[in-house]
Amino acid sequence: MIPTESGYLEFDKVSFSWPNGGNVIDQCSFSIIKPGLWMLVGENGSGKSTLFRLISGAILPKSGKIFCSLRPSMVYQNPDHQLLMPTCKSELMLSVPKTIPHSKLFELIQSALEKVDLGEMLDRPIHTLSGGQKQRLSLAGAIVSNSNLLLLDEPTALLDPQSQNAVLRVVKKLTNSSVDPITAIWVTHRLEELFVCDGAAIVKNGGISKWHSGSKVFQQLKSLALR
Ligand SMILES: Nc1ncnc2c1ncn2[C@@H]1O[C@H](COP(=O)(O)OP(=O)(O)OP(=O)(O)O)[C@@H](O)[C@H]1O
Ligand SMILES: [Mg+2]
Repeated sequence: MIPTESGYLEFDKVSFSWPNGGNVIDQCSFSIIKPGLWMLVGENGSGKSTLFRLISGAILPKSGKIFCSLRPSMVYQNPDHQLLMPTCKSELMLSVPKTIPHSKLFELIQSALEKVDLGEMLDRPIHTLSGGQKQRLSLAGAIVSNSNLLLLDEPTALLDPQSQNAVLRVVKKLTNSSVDPITAIWVTHRLEELFVCDGAAIVKNGGISKWHSGSKVFQQLKSLALR
């Protein structure tokens, strides 16, 4: 593995099993060596969420090695399970690293809100936000925490098409920015999203396929469905 300036993630023959089960992840090897929007697709139960838990360090491999020089942050399907505070500002205050001086707090929070197109929402009560706005607030939380690896587990599954597009657009912008682009891994069952990513792979039989363009993976899945 060649460490890059922007960080990297590598799985080397990683296996994992939940108690009383066989290997959900089985000798899985893959790497991500540059920022971008990377999508994972796969059947229910194929191990996508388990992979995210391994990447985030919440669970440890049974065998194999994980190298990660990025700082991961999870974004879940339902933002109501993630957001805890009454307003956008108080929510983001929770995620600010303790090393940030008090004088820089406001600037950091405001800039994170602007990056997710919520620049006017500083004092907005969270219960008045739409689902898509809440999901973008979760992204802002990851940004203020100084994360540079977003692990998005079906982040648009509960959203209408317009909110889905807004979340997708923001993540694409963050991962393809000319200044400090971040890395995002995005799990989806909404196959039309594949056309927006920088690379996609299929999770199957405990492993991950090679990275291909989103449109190629879309075609592969469609032709499998037609068989
Ligand atoms: N906390 C857990 N304890 C025991 N087994 C688990 C746990 N989490 C997941 N599993 C099992 O691991 C396998 C993979 O589950 P996982 O949630 O990783 O799949 P997934 O690809 O994310 O599925 P989906 O598309 O439905 O979200 C399943 O058989 C599941 O029952
Ligand atoms: Mg899952």
